[in-house]
This record gives sequence, structure tokens and C-alpha cells, in this order.
Amino acid sequence: MEKIRNAITTIANFPKPGIQFRDITSLLECPEASRLTVEKLGHKCIDIDCNKIVAIEARGFIFGATLAQELSVPLVLARKPGKLPRATLQQQYKLEYGQDTLHIHRDSLQEGDRVLIIDDLIATGGTALAVVKLVEQVGAQVTHACFVVALPELGGVSRLQKAGVRVDYLLEYD
Ligand code: PRP
Ligand code: ADE
Repeated sequence: MEKIRNAITTIANFPKPGIQFRDITSLLECPEASRLTVEKLGHKCIDIDCNKIVAIEARGFIFGATLAQELSVPLVLARKPGKLPRATLQQQYKLEYGQDTLHIHRDSLQEGDRVLIIDDLIATGGTALAVVKLVEQVGAQVTHACFVVALPELGGVSRLQKAGVRVDYLLEYD
């Protein structure tokens, strides 16, 4: 795991003063660490009983796409406003450094679906919880969520767990 940690850069005060930004672009620029990350995520998720993956724009797409292929389940994209062409469900949420809205195609999820959320990082959990609410709008359920990086001190991991989601991740930072 140290290879992956060492490939993630920390940028102080981005995008706002006081934020320690954990930057995965440097991980993606290191093929060995990037391959290892995908492999470890695969090991964590291979036995999860889900029938859909929801990956969160933008950094979640990178890991969600490879995992969906490995698990042989459909990949559903949770996207920022104005990007999805068909009818959507939407949910507003707060970020560590702002506010945004996520959309999912209304016909991509069905009642009874068991969803695995994939993203690069969980901080406050606002983004992942917005996806939980989107999924619940159609009578489906988020059973698991998996991240490359967790920042547990910001509360997102426990918020998701309290919402009934099993949470896993590769690395944590204080
Ligand atoms: C980042 C990250 C997660 C979210 C985590 O995305 O990729 O999706 O923040 O924060 P939270 O747990 O406090 O909600 P961001 O909104 O910066 O978008 P990006 O992936 O498009 O850069
Ligand atoms: N998304 C929310 N908080 C973040 C952080 N500290 N680093 C990288 N991405 C983030």
C-alpha cells in the first residue's frame, strides 16, 4: 500500500485555504502504482453482491470503469449538471469546499438494484450520500461503497455507515 500512498501528492490549501488536497493525478501518472490500485480495488470488491456500480464524476469514473468490467456488472455514471442526455434524477449536496448537484439517468436504475458506489476519495461523505439518496429515489439500495482514499476525520465514512452502507477503502489520511 505504501507504493500507492507515495504516488499520491498532497497539495496544501487547494482549492481553498485549509484544505489538504490528496491529488490522485500523480498516482495516474505512475503506471505501476495505478495498476496496483486497480488490482487492490478488485480484490476488495470481487466478492461483493451487487448488480450495478455507480461511479461518481469525475475521478470516480477512472476506477469505476475498470471495476465494472472486472465484476461484469453495468456501470452507471453519476454526473454533474448538464451532462446526461436522457431524463435524470438529481440530488444537491455539500462538499468540503463548496456545493454541487449530481444526476443519474432515470432509466439506469431499477427497483431492487443492489448498488456498489465507487469513487477516488471520501471526505465529508456529502457526495456519496447524494448518490445513496439518488439510488433510493427508485427503490434501489446502496449496499457497499469503495474508495481509494478515505479521510475518516471528516466524518464521511461514519455517515455512510450510519446510512447502512458497508464502506471499504485502500488508504486513509488524518
Ligand atoms: C471529490 C472526490 C469525491 C468528493 C469527496 O470530487 O472525487 O467525489 O470530492 O468529497 P465529500 O466526501 O466531501 O463529498 P469533486 O467534487 O472535487 O469533483 P471531481 O472528481 O470532478 O474533481
Ligand atoms: N474531495 C474532497 N476533499 C478532498 C481532498 N481533501 N482531497 C482531494 N479530493 C477531495
